[in-house]
Amino acid sequence: MNLSDYNQIPSPAFVLDLKRFARNLDLLKEIQEKANINIILALKGFSLWHVFPIIKKYLAGATASSFHEALLIFNEMGTKAHTYSPAYIPADFDKIVQYSSHITFNSCAEYIRYLPFISSENPLFSPGIRVNPGYSPVDVALYNPAAEGSRLGVTVDRINELKQLPNLEGLHIHTLCESDSYHLEKLIDAVILNFGELLPKLKWINFGGGHLMTKSDYDVPHLISVLQSFKLKYPNLSVILEPGSAVVWETGELVSTVLDIVDNNGIKTAILDVSFTAHMPDTLEMPYRPNILNASREQNSDFQNAYRLGGVSCLAGDFLEEYFFSSPLHVGQKLIFLDMMHYTMVKTTMFNGVGHPEIGCWSEDDGYKLWKKFDYSDFKNKLG
Ligand SMILES: Cc1ncc(COP(=O)(O)O)c(C=O)c1O
Repeated sequence: MNLSDYNQIPSPAFVLDLKRFARNLDLLKEIQEKANINIILALKGFSLWHVFPIIKKYLAGATASSFHEALLIFNEMGTKAHTYSPAYIPADFDKIVQYSSHITFNSCAEYIRYLPFISSENPLFSPGIRVNPGYSPVDVALYNPAAEGSRLGVTVDRINELKQLPNLEGLHIHTLCESDSYHLEKLIDAVILNFGELLPKLKWINFGGGHLMTKSDYDVPHLISVLQSFKLKYPNLSVILEPGSAVVWETGELVSTVLDIVDNNGIKTAILDVSFTAHMPDTLEMPYRPNILNASREQNSDFQNAYRLGGVSCLAGDFLEEYFFSSPLHVGQKLIFLDMMHYTMVKTTMFNGVGHPEIGCWSEDDGYKLWKKFDYSDFKNKLG
């Protein structure tokens, strides 16, 4: 897509480029086949169900964190989910069983709580438990599941309890985030070191998400060789990866427009028709600085015009520190936030009643196609 293509897209809008999306899926499929593993989409990162029929052609299914996600997978992808939640809502559990092929529990106590389902003669799902291998390359505490005192997964000091769990079939581990294959290699070493004695008796192992396989500098051959050697060691285990970000990495944008420019003692802020807190919360929570088409994150000789970017909500902190542009911004100008498919639409809110960006896709043959436009009824119905 180029700037003239973006000009055809209404603002604000999240737009998925189907060509780049298919390219990512192609690579994931190739990895699946070469490494003899299953890759499933983590809905928590991207749940745009309009493209589930496409995803189904390439990937082995999807993973859910709740009854609603499991139902969406069942209805729109036509397959049962791999489900994991830090705890299950008792009233939802029957329904989760109905729509899940694999269910992972977060603690030994939770596993035992649902034992009647697990030890029935014809179990309806394959039971697993999440373990915490004590290793994560993630520095940001908000995103580190192996941080001290983490509530996510059973730690190795409870290995004897783990060994006694009846009918246990799988282990689930998730401690990576936008990580590379060398991090996965270290994670696998930590899992073998801590939980290796469980592995020969199990049927599957899920190494979670956080594998950024579609990033241009990711060492795919190394990943494949790491996974192949793991499989040689444990031929009994079916290996699952459940990325979210990697599926849609760099496949779509958030199109926005400058509404006003305010100047406070020389600090200029371009106020946009989108909100960081409502539409791109990770830019404030992580925090990270998204790339913007034709803008620089640093000042240099070509990019001299500095602007903070302001969200349209009333939150004082709803802005990003300065970006630099080759010429002054003007009201009505489009700003294109890059790589805005993962952890955006799944996390958006209607705080302040701000308009939610419409959602659509782009293809070279058909141009822009709208999937969802939001209006007052979406705002109102959320509240009653
Ligand atoms: C249990 C689990 N699986 C998979 C994922 C997906 O991770 P990513 O989108 O970084 O690949 C997450 C993300 O938080 C997760 O918590």
